[in-house]
Amino acid sequence: MNYNFIKMNTKGNFPIDKLKKVQTPFYYYDVELLNKTLDMLMSEANKYGFCPHYAMKANANAKVTALIAKKGLGADCVSGNEVSAAIAAGFPADKIVFAGVGKTDKEINTALDANIFCFNAESIPELEVINELAAAKGKVASVELRINPNVDAHTHAYITTGLNENKFGFSMDDLEKVINLIKGLKNIKLIGLHFHIGSQITDLGCFVPLCERINALQDQVEAMGVKLENINVGGGLGIDYENPNTNPIPDFKTYFSQFAQHLKLRNGQKLHCEPGRSVVAQCGSLITKVTYVKKGKEKQFAIVDGGMTDLIRPALYQAYHKIEAITTDSAVETYDVVGPICESSDVFQKDCKLNGVKRGDLLALRSAGAYGEIMASRYNLRELPVGYLSTEL
Ligand code: LLP
Repeated sequence: MNYNFIKMNTKGNFPIDKLKKVQTPFYYYDVELLNKTLDMLMSEANKYGFCPHYAMKANANAKVTALIAKKGLGADCVSGNEVSAAIAAGFPADKIVFAGVGKTDKEINTALDANIFCFNAESIPELEVINELAAAKGKVASVELRINPNVDAHTHAYITTGLNENKFGFSMDDLEKVINLIKGLKNIKLIGLHFHIGSQITDLGCFVPLCERINALQDQVEAMGVKLENINVGGGLGIDYENPNTNPIPDFKTYFSQFAQHLKLRNGQKLHCEPGRSVVAQCGSLITKVTYVKKGKEKQFAIVDGGMTDLIRPALYQAYHKIEAITTDSAVETYDVVGPICESSDVFQKDCKLNGVKRGDLLALRSAGAYGEIMASRYNLRELPVGYLSTEL
């Protein structure tokens, strides 16, 4: 893959004159980078015949998801509305998987009516409800069991999902019981096992114990005389928040090769995955304008018009987003970059080194394409930020 399209400068490549005309704060999506990322993802997945399903939860902007659907990915959804949005974006229904611990009857019916690929089921009562609702429609619902593999993803506690203490999935100890129960549910067909150990995983060695756990579980299931057509390893591949300009495309090559090397897929068995962040994070930036520069006794603040309602990750997870002053080359100064919202957690970054800014300058908060726009809220009755593609400005 040729990376030359990205200039290795210290700031991203932004069409400043065009950005200046747009009402801030807003999300800006670099379509060229998104497409290159998708091409890299698909070419690495295709090497092994793996099937990626884009995790809609990372970014459900209709223009962004339509571009992703065009590249041949399926979709991973966690609500009935995501299922509907995925279909509207152009993802084929037979490539849609639907997870979540609390699927409502309405959501299950939406998915049954759409004839999705499968439900990733997380509890016995959920299996019974899917069976009942499918029976009422004269359908057989395909189901993968989400298993909690108790593997540590070594990531932020709020985004670790595969440990015994988390609410997700079936415990491994219940697997045999659940498989026996499914044999009695006539409107459910068991087609695979599903896993997801966490998000923003940068130590790709974490996927090796997951593979080993899956290998052992497969032996156990086969001993019961059950054949599984699919293994779904979820999402989680992390991105480089520190260096979005020099490391814009995640390491899909190593990621997929871990599964190719360590997972003992059976003959004809398909491997599925659910990348979210790794697909969309680096192509997106939150563009915000400096409203005031306020000089305190010891600190100076760059008060910007974007806040935690537009990008909640720093406030919620103490997440780092690189900030660039994109309309000035003045000498570097140190700022606390803060939003206008009446919460002391409304801080994007403390002691941030930026080219000196003044009222009206634009800042880009980088790597914000995933879990940015989609997690925005209207707290303080603020407008929701709009997302624009680079190709439409
Ligand atoms: N599959 C399942 C079952 C998931 O729960 C998730 C994410 C994914 C796939 C996609 O994972 P990814 O490839 O994006 O790591 N709001 C948090 C992240 C929450 C992730 C939840 N689950 C953040 O801003 O960091």
